[in-house]
Amino acid sequence: AEPFVIGSKSFTAVAINTAAKAGQWIKSKVGDISRIDTKFSSQDLVTEVDKGSEKLIRNLIMTHFPDHSILGEEGVEPGPEASAKALQAMSEEEYLWIVDPIDGTTNFVHGFPFFSVSIALAHKGEIIVGVVYDPSRDELFVAEKGKGAYMHGKKTIVSLDGQLSSSLVATGLPADRNGALPINLKGIQALSPKVRNLRIAGSAALHLAYVASGRLSGFWEIGLNAWDIAAGALLIQESGGKVTDTEGRPYNLAVRNILATNGQIHDELRQELVKAEATGF
Ligand code: IPD
Ligand code: CA
Ligand code: CA
Ligand code: CA
Repeated sequence: AEPFVIGSKSFTAVAINTAAKAGQWIKSKVGDISRIDTKFSSQDLVTEVDKGSEKLIRNLIMTHFPDHSILGEEGVEPGPEASAKALQAMSEEEYLWIVDPIDGTTNFVHGFPFFSVSIALAHKGEIIVGVVYDPSRDELFVAEKGKGAYMHGKKTIVSLDGQLSSSLVATGLPADRNGALPINLKGIQALSPKVRNLRIAGSAALHLAYVASGRLSGFWEIGLNAWDIAAGALLIQESGGKVTDTEGRPYNLAVRNILATNGQIHDELRQELVKAEATGF
């Protein structure tokens, strides 16, 4: 039997349709937010649009696949412990959708057009579908396990850069100012002089999609969650790149410290993080 299809509705079609609908709605809400709340820290923002997007996504997925489970950022208590627990409780589910309803909330709030919707589907812990949608550019990145990754019908492929010195690399400034941020700052300090340049554009999922499509040669960040990474990780794997944690261990859903590259610069980038003692906490 075709593993990605139930009846006539493929998992991928639902993921694409859902991400596109949520993304278009989010875009229509830029500049039209009535309140901004904070979550785990004063830099950790959430709006009614994050919650509304997650609701829309849940409803669409449930309509098609009522037996499936959904792990969404806004359905989980804020903070690293609660997030890890929620994932652990669900990671063995037969079918688990992993959803970031807006990745890049800070950008969304400021109207800085670099945010995305990230939707992944895991089958018994293995990611089989990953979709990242950027509504500002109407760019949709789609991957299916074993079948490649595409942006609007064109196969995505990682960059060929073999050295840090010719690589454009991205990272993030985590909202967790006490734990993850200081570690990531050490990495930034170490990598800045080594790479062609560094970008910190504020959506982990979109950065990962850019590694998949060759616009970036690498990305790392400390202290992310499954919903930031899951879809983007499959995009990169299916585009010929490499995804591990910052210690070099193979990616799985529980990984929070991510290192994702075109493969070529993976070890060199990791060595710099190791030297800077910036691989985790
Ligand atoms: C955040 C973004 C940001 C990254 C943060 C994430 P959110 O996700 O991906 O780029 O630096 O660590 O938490 O909260 O906007 O979905
Ligand atoms: Ca958030
Ligand atoms: Ca996120
Ligand atoms: Ca989010």
